[in-house]
Amino acid sequence: MKKPYDLTADYQPAAFTFANKKAVEEAIARYPEGQQASAVMPLLWIAQRQHDNWIPRAAMDEIAKILSMPPVKVYEVASFYTMYNLAPIGRYHVQCCGTTPCWLRGSERVMAACAEAAARAPDGLFTVSEVECLGACTAAPVLQVNDDTYEGLTPASAKELMALLEQGIDPKAGDKQ
Ligand code: FES
Repeated sequence: MKKPYDLTADYQPAAFTFANKKAVEEAIARYPEGQQASAVMPLLWIAQRQHDNWIPRAAMDEIAKILSMPPVKVYEVASFYTMYNLAPIGRYHVQCCGTTPCWLRGSERVMAACAEAAARAPDGLFTVSEVECLGACTAAPVLQVNDDTYEGLTPASAKELMALLEQGIDPKAGDKQ
């Protein structure tokens, strides 16, 4: 499934300013003098949290300015990792692991069930993406919805999860088998 990716669309704000300057300074201070560019990932994460779970180009340009690096280097990092969203996404970001252990345990059918439920849901509620290993392979197949992980899913339990989310019920993260 293709990652939402658009650096030019007109929904991009013209400018971006970090609301929490202290968090930015703390992230940069974790790296040795002269290696501040290494803070690009935490800064992208802070920007995404601040901006409805996606990162506008203006935020990447601001990060490039803060870290004194060429903007294209920030775009490269942001577009490489699936954890960064470069276009607006739904209220629930349903990330389906498609790596081998999950795939062997039926992740394709789980993802199809999620995509089907998302297609029937109101616009802006769900974004379904395929991601690489979520680090819970022993409980495959695995989904991550925003910050919560759901393990041992079947197409039926995935549908049930999507139905609860659609009703605004926040199911407890964990093993849903
Ligand atoms: S392969 Fe799916 S969580 Fe590791």
